[in-house]
Amino acid sequence: MSKTVALCVSGSIAAYKAVEVARLLVKAGVRVLPVFTESASKFVGPVTFSGITGEPVRTSMWDASFPGEMHVKLAQEADVVAMVPATADLLARLAQGRASDLVTALALSARGPVLVAPSMHPRMWAHPSTTRNVATLRGDGLRFVGPVDGPVASGEIGMGRMSDPADIASAILRAAEPGDLADLSLLVTAGPTYEDIDPVRFLGNRSSGKMGFALAARAAARGAHVTLVAGPVAEPTPPGVQRVDVRSAEEMRRAVMHARAAVDVVIMSAAVADFRPDAVSASKLKKSDGAPALRLTQNPDILAELGQSRIGAAPFLVGFALETGEDAAVIAYAREKLARKRVDLVVANHAAESIGKEENRIHLVDASGVETHGPAAKGALADVILTRVRGALRGEAPAPPAPSL
Ligand code: CTP
Repeated sequence: MSKTVALCVSGSIAAYKAVEVARLLVKAGVRVLPVFTESASKFVGPVTFSGITGEPVRTSMWDASFPGEMHVKLAQEADVVAMVPATADLLARLAQGRASDLVTALALSARGPVLVAPSMHPRMWAHPSTTRNVATLRGDGLRFVGPVDGPVASGEIGMGRMSDPADIASAILRAAEPGDLADLSLLVTAGPTYEDIDPVRFLGNRSSGKMGFALAARAAARGAHVTLVAGPVAEPTPPGVQRVDVRSAEEMRRAVMHARAAVDVVIMSAAVADFRPDAVSASKLKKSDGAPALRLTQNPDILAELGQSRIGAAPFLVGFALETGEDAAVIAYAREKLARKRVDLVVANHAAESIGKEENRIHLVDASGVETHGPAAKGALADVILTRVRGALRGEAPAPPAPSL
């Protein structure tokens, strides 16, 4: 089915390149609805856009000849809303959630992805206000294409030049395709848990949360609804992901149990502490009292509880096994966990290859066998895991022999 894109042009010298983006989209069979901010027509002519797209250029919400609410109707028709170029002013207005003109009102009522291709002088791009606005917009799930480093209108060189029209057009075309996980709701846990000893000390572990955050980011980018229950980590929230921050295993358990009924898949990538201090001291333990004898108690095993309490096959359960030792031993531990915790898939990895690293090597262990992937970037491995989950939910057997990354 052919796609519809609302192409919103704002007032920047780079606006002339939006003509080429429109042409490339039309050539790819896309219906393009051109929308201008007030100042866009100071840089490019509406006649050019209507000539290329075969559609009228819309600028004002107050067009008496248009039946109904223009922003809502355009949003209804558009599979993607794209801002090409997006000025610093437009980013600021979008970050504030304003609806003061047709472009911003359209962005607020969009039913699909909103994509922005910023264009501005490098000092404007580097300004803290713009940095803040970009962070807000990324958090709201807007997708950015560029800017890139290169010559800008003033003749200077720096970060702020709009991406090439071909790159923008292909990002728009990708955004127009619904992700392969669009019908799935995922719960991902990530990071360590901290088990308090007293108000200043805790027991923790070295998990960075990178793998779990990569899984959440890739799942959201592939269209899934993602809730990320995160232990104490320094990672930024991926776009479009709902994040719940927790500290201890008990808090993580509560957050997971609260969310589990509404999800199709739970991926427990968190390094949940197996033990916590018997009691948390209300006041700081003093050195002068001598070394304390820490008595530990076992934490709930969240994954095992999910495996034991589920009725039927839902939710699909993925566990992680972080181990030390040779491949064969690591895989044997994973097999044992698969059975004991009653889960569908275990991702086994080696502590030395994984903790705090950008890359990893994993063994996917399920009832049908073992597949090894990597070393590869955690984002790429996240895609491998998600594709495997997608296949299993569709009842597909893993493709033999599995390609190794
Ligand atoms: N896990 C959990 N709750 C815990 C401990 C672990 O949900 N209290 C989950 C982890 O998120 C991971 C999997 O269980 O997905 C494997 O954790 P691990 O601690 O390696 O499993 P254990 O059964 O505790 O294995 P071991 O005997 O090696 O300690």
